[in-house]
Amino acid sequence: MINFEYKNPTKILFGQGKIPKVALEIPQDATVLMVYGSGSIKKNGVYEQVKEALRKHTVYEFGGVPANPEYDILLQALALIKEKKVSYLLAVGGGSVIDGVKFLSAAVDYEGDPWDILQLRIRTEEGQGMPFGTILTLPATGSEMNSGYVISRKERNQKLGAGGPGLFPQFSILDPEVVRSIPKKQIANGIVDAYTHVLEQYMTVPSAADLQERFAESILISLQKTAPELMTAKFDYPAAANFMWCCTMALNGLLQKGVITDWAIHAMGHELTAYYGIDHARTLAIIAPSHYRYNFETKKEKLAQYAERVWGITEGTVEEKAAAGIAQMEYFFHSMDIATKLSDYVTDYQETATRIRETFISRNLTGIGEYQSLTPDDVYEIVNMSY
Ligand code: NZQ
Ligand code: ZN
Repeated sequence: MINFEYKNPTKILFGQGKIPKVALEIPQDATVLMVYGSGSIKKNGVYEQVKEALRKHTVYEFGGVPANPEYDILLQALALIKEKKVSYLLAVGGGSVIDGVKFLSAAVDYEGDPWDILQLRIRTEEGQGMPFGTILTLPATGSEMNSGYVISRKERNQKLGAGGPGLFPQFSILDPEVVRSIPKKQIANGIVDAYTHVLEQYMTVPSAADLQERFAESILISLQKTAPELMTAKFDYPAAANFMWCCTMALNGLLQKGVITDWAIHAMGHELTAYYGIDHARTLAIIAPSHYRYNFETKKEKLAQYAERVWGITEGTVEEKAAAGIAQMEYFFHSMDIATKLSDYVTDYQETATRIRETFISRNLTGIGEYQSLTPDDVYEIVNMSY
């Protein structure tokens, strides 16, 4: 097991009826900016619950953060923070709103051009950044219990990430009741995103970190079991609760400790969102099968372990089991109506691989994956395979 240090300071308040507790988590004398998305919280009762709970606090609001949080819109929120002398941020939404708030937290005391923070990947260290909490409305990204964020800038076709230990939420409220109002398409996205977060930290080589490997496999199995329960019309609280906690556990830092991690699927996927606006999770479903087929030789032992322990495929050689594992993964994505070919989403896909190779070269991303060995030419081949 590789040496590691682990600190996750985010307090989790999990379960039905927990949203009103927000009032106890935010200091009474704080000036709060409540940040939310395009309006789902006004339709499902979450907005009223938060406003009622915070009626004794000073609260300003900033709504309209879009999916794939947009830099220009966040700059408007930044101006409001300064104008109203806000001292505490509250994100009420999914990964996009939470990521937007993390960016605001990082940017508020930054002296230069805020885009530098992303362009230069400036870390926000412990003790820096404005304090914030979250009320999660969409299980998927794990942003509610990690310190990373990803911001889009459409005019430049860019989607860049940054983070640092100063950007853990102080608290996150996870009430599975919010899953009731999530459209099935977004539930499927959430499952695939969390599932791929586990894969990115697991699908490398067999390691000595047995506990982390079995944690990872448990989350994958649990998501597979829960998916059909969530995708049926009827709301199922136990399924929603498992889904929500799986998504948080998939990316709160625990799985990656003591092991090597990949993250190449996300690096390529972000470019597909930057160019085409394809939902984050769907970009991962497009890239993952090709990535594993292209890197079959280095990953086959772990792919076979995945096939055996997660899907119960015990027959065949290592290669046969590994190939069957990839096929099962694709089948799982398809079972939630998630298409896995780029050509299912865009028409000018023949140019995509070249574009992404050029972007990787221009950003000096010359080596990605667990060994930083995948070059822009490899990226070109992987994207090409995903047509
Ligand atoms: O904007 P509103 O009206 O709230 O609607 C949202 C949005 O349209 C809707 N929604 C959220 N909760 C709902 C709901 N609709 C009905 N009922 C509810 N309870 O769902 C839509 C998608 O929301 P969004 O926040 O964009 O989705 P998600 O949570 O998947 O976040 C995606 C963003 O997170 C980034 C992605 O790149 C993308 O920008 N990621 C962040 C990560 C992190 N910080 O650790 C890791 C991930 O890999 C990912 O990159
Ligand atoms: Zn993701």
